[in-house]
Amino acid sequence: MTQVVHVPLEDRAYDIHIGRGLMGQAGALIEPVLQRAKVAIVTDNNVAPLHLHRLKEALQSAGIAHAALILPAGEATKSWTHLSQTIDFFLNEKIERRDVVIALGGGVIGDLVGFAAAILRRGVRFVQIPTSLLAQVDSSVGGKTGINAAQGKNLIGAFHQPSLVLADIDVLDTLTPRDFLAGYGEVVKYGLLGNAPFFAWLEKNGPALIAGDPAARSEAVRVSCQMKADIVVRDETEQGDRALLNLGHTFCHALEAATGYSDRLLHGEGVAIGCALAFETSARLGLCSQEAPSRVRAHLKAMGMKTDISDIDAAMPEPEDLFSLMGQDKKVVAGQLNFIMARDIGQAFVTADVSEAVILSVLEASMDPRSA
Ligand code: GLY
Repeated sequence: MTQVVHVPLEDRAYDIHIGRGLMGQAGALIEPVLQRAKVAIVTDNNVAPLHLHRLKEALQSAGIAHAALILPAGEATKSWTHLSQTIDFFLNEKIERRDVVIALGGGVIGDLVGFAAAILRRGVRFVQIPTSLLAQVDSSVGGKTGINAAQGKNLIGAFHQPSLVLADIDVLDTLTPRDFLAGYGEVVKYGLLGNAPFFAWLEKNGPALIAGDPAARSEAVRVSCQMKADIVVRDETEQGDRALLNLGHTFCHALEAATGYSDRLLHGEGVAIGCALAFETSARLGLCSQEAPSRVRAHLKAMGMKTDISDIDAAMPEPEDLFSLMGQDKKVVAGQLNFIMARDIGQAFVTADVSEAVILSVLEASMDPRSA
């Protein structure tokens, strides 16, 4: 059964459809948002052989003309070069101001195509068809789009909401277990930041999610999207509450920078470690009991996930150097680094009041957990 999460953003409102077999129904689902029966699709060379033919067939059977651009897979595609290639493709395909373009892929394709859509002819509409768990529960929803700069990730971009999101649960079957678990890091984040019953549900249903149970997967994606939608509606451009979605991300960005944004640490793996460290920091600051970080770690470990810096298979810089990498974070305001801390599972909040000494002690212990 398909579930729909509505994102009520006034004239930018849209639906997120979550369920099985949506790729095969894409033509019929997309048709209502079109003003003429023509779209342009952008995907990557990992996703194209798996899913592009089914999307094309679905568009064909709904009588929607389409052309596709296949870009190289990987983070390096979020670049000026591929943005310009994407814009050229849309212009050559004569995509007009009222037309719709489609992002078929994970977070990289979604962010790049969303940004291209934001700037093409001062903004065309776009549909997200996310093919990774991470994209289904996070990056395809909420309108953050962009590319990377030499100075850092996601530094060039725009808020541009999609017109429709199709999260087909069946495509998750094509993910490697490692990629699925990396996306699961973002799912756990929602429970930790604001929904303790959902975290308890994940503790119980995590094994079914890994085993591929479609009903459990659908429910996890639905709750995650609903939580993200609620936060985005309260704070679309991250003036306040939306920062809660960055739980674990300040630690994560430092760890990603230290590992050269390579596959030694996937983003969602860094988020999981970051969440464990954020709860550990909260406990050391006396904000929550030690039971909370222990429970976070126990669940992540039970799912076979990394929970500590020592679990990353790479040489790491000293804690002081990791701390200064945290200072490069986009969430620095007037030179002040903000942290997402927690009073308990499901009770996160934003604060600048975290001492460097406590962070250093948490980083040190996580590099050698036996010393903690
Ligand atoms: N991924 C965090 C956000 O969309 O705000």
